[in-house]
Amino acid sequence: MNIQSVRGFHDIFGKDVKKFRKVSDTARRILKLYNFEEIILPIVEYMELFYRSVGETTDIVQKEMFVFEDRKGRKLSLRPEGTASVVRAFIEHKLYALKPYVKLFYEGPMFRYERPQAGRYRQFHQIGAEIFGAAEPFADAEIIKIAYDILESLGIKNVIIEINSLGCKRDREAYREALLKYLSGVKEQLCRDCISRMDRNPLRVLDCKVETCREVVVEAPKIVDYLCDKCKAHYEDLRRYLNALEIPFRENPNLVRGLDYYTRTVFEAVSDTLGLTLIAGGRYDYLVEELGGPPTPALGFALGVERLMLLIPDLEEKEDIYFLIPFGDVHEYALQVASLLRKQGKIVEYSYRKGGLKKQLEFANKLRVKYAVIIGEDEVKNNEITIKDMETGQQRKVKLKELIRGYS
Ligand code: HAM
Repeated sequence: MNIQSVRGFHDIFGKDVKKFRKVSDTARRILKLYNFEEIILPIVEYMELFYRSVGETTDIVQKEMFVFEDRKGRKLSLRPEGTASVVRAFIEHKLYALKPYVKLFYEGPMFRYERPQAGRYRQFHQIGAEIFGAAEPFADAEIIKIAYDILESLGIKNVIIEINSLGCKRDREAYREALLKYLSGVKEQLCRDCISRMDRNPLRVLDCKVETCREVVVEAPKIVDYLCDKCKAHYEDLRRYLNALEIPFRENPNLVRGLDYYTRTVFEAVSDTLGLTLIAGGRYDYLVEELGGPPTPALGFALGVERLMLLIPDLEEKEDIYFLIPFGDVHEYALQVASLLRKQGKIVEYSYRKGGLKKQLEFANKLRVKYAVIIGEDEVKNNEITIKDMETGQQRKVKLKELIRGYS
């Protein structure tokens, strides 16, 4: 049997690993500048956590979760996202008791049973950040600024930051009614999914991708017109701060997001090039309380590592590799030389294959090393090594004594 990887689950190797690390290192460096601390979370949680946070009626919970039973029949889930887990940990470890507010970031694989295509996988990686205990709109501005800084640092262009406000619970109730009234009048024009969404989660009709639905929602009432004074002021302040930070953004009154926990600010950084969302997030002021913690306003974002990888160029970092070629039974000496070089911080590749000089130099070229270090009986006898610069072809001998002193 020829075993292949599971559909939607992929290996990351070769050049892509460099890109993966570049995204991760860049995000970590920027999160550090904002003084976020890392939290390493489990990949498996009780399924109920996602029911109660992401929302029972969402596509993620209804159609996309990997759910299985443990040996005692408890329903567990591979996490489809990270926010729910961070909130669970925040409550479980009473992190609210330690600091006036808490800033955490996480990195790791997430799992969603979606239809795989470019930039969409069943196992993908997110880097996310969450702030607990911050109600003020400048925290929202900072969260969006982090996302913006990461994109800028990676040199990713043609990205539009879309923002919207979903208001508080009361605003949403009033809006839901107005929206339902409108949708009932145009029900025949909606797709089948949207008709069922009307009962379960009518706001989701607003971001349906079906063309006829998109036409219908153009005329739909807008949630921003239903915001209470406080939510309206919060949204206005946010826009002011984004302008002050010179972050270009576009208001999208139909941006509702696919997770139920959001309140007030939601945002997405959308790539024009890919037509995909790269980074998304928002505020979720009731979630901590709903999951059993003290009332704690909170907000955050997550980026899709694979999606950002699609937009960064191949990275050709040339490293100075020393390729150590032993000829004959000189391994005791050669292994010691390799250790010595590594102790000095040099990257050493010890040739694991036998062959004459021509063959070995061919290996050296294939491995794209900078230097070949040749060790034969003569070198051992004279306590030296021969170093060949693979680019210039120049060759010279270096005494072991010199090497110990720090050859460069
Ligand atoms: P989300 O919009 O579901 O939000 O996902 C965030 C990002 O993860 C997306 O913008 C995308 O880049 C990436 N992503 C999602 N699904 C896939 C997939 N199937 N394949 C590849 N990449 C994908 C959340 O997960 C929220 N937890 C974000 C958040 C944090 N809100 C507040 N705090």
